[in-house]
Amino acid sequence: MSRSDEHRLDERPSWLVKPPAHLAVIMDGNGRWAKKRLLPRVAGHRQGAQAVRRTVSACRAWGLRYLTLYAFSWENWKRSRLEVDALMALLEDYLDGEEALMREKAIRFRTIGNRSRLPLSVLRKIEAVEQGTRDGGAMDLVLALSYSGREEILGAAKRFASDVAAGRKAPEELTEELFDGYLDTAGIPPPDLLLRTSGEHRISNFLLWQLAYTELYFDPVLWPDFGEENLKRALMDYQDRQRRFGAEGTGETLSRGTGQETGKA
Ligand code: FPP
Repeated sequence: MSRSDEHRLDERPSWLVKPPAHLAVIMDGNGRWAKKRLLPRVAGHRQGAQAVRRTVSACRAWGLRYLTLYAFSWENWKRSRLEVDALMALLEDYLDGEEALMREKAIRFRTIGNRSRLPLSVLRKIEAVEQGTRDGGAMDLVLALSYSGREEILGAAKRFASDVAAGRKAPEELTEELFDGYLDTAGIPPPDLLLRTSGEHRISNFLLWQLAYTELYFDPVLWPDFGEENLKRALMDYQDRQRRFGAEGTGETLSRGTGQETGKA
């Protein structure tokens, strides 16, 4: 067992028999949380950033290998300048404040999404944290930023088409596995579990290709109130699912072990 694996397993609770290897989260409800308290939307995002810290910490402690958080969608650029600026500032603060902890906990940081519209200071920070945490082997923390699932698929299709035009690839070579490698998520297995807060039941242009066989879980809690107990309920629920990936059922749930919890292979 490598050093990072030892790290990873030491705090896994006894109820967690088969954690999803990859958890993806649509963090929703910051605005409603603030509205209920007659506070500006930004106050909801600020509390939402605290929920991000709690979630990263629990996932790392409980031995999840990949955590992808939908922090800012391509469509979010349409929000007011005030809100967009506040979200970018929170992101920068988060990266400033968490980089040392990420390194200590062997968390590797990366982002997916279109970086072209991100402010230069945020971009620089992202690059620095990616560089500073690249040796982390216990957990990958992936932030979807300025992200659109459809745009990601179009980008991948364009890159493949360029390779074909340049003679590096032939159309017949294209398989699902090859296409995976053209996506922003290249090298990351698809999510085993998608969790969305705030009671909305939508995918909202998130990881459209990658979610093909993902288990879905919806929690009515507003994201700023999301905590370890919510995460525990979602993971317990996941363990009771039967994952079939389109094949016949075995009657086994994940907690009894189907061996299929890490992907569609
Ligand atoms: C959805 O709530 C949430 C977002 C658009 C942004 C998520 C951002 C954070 C959790 C905080 C900053 C992130 C990091 C990584 C530090 P909403 O505003 O759409 O809520 P509503 O649907 O109730 O209006």
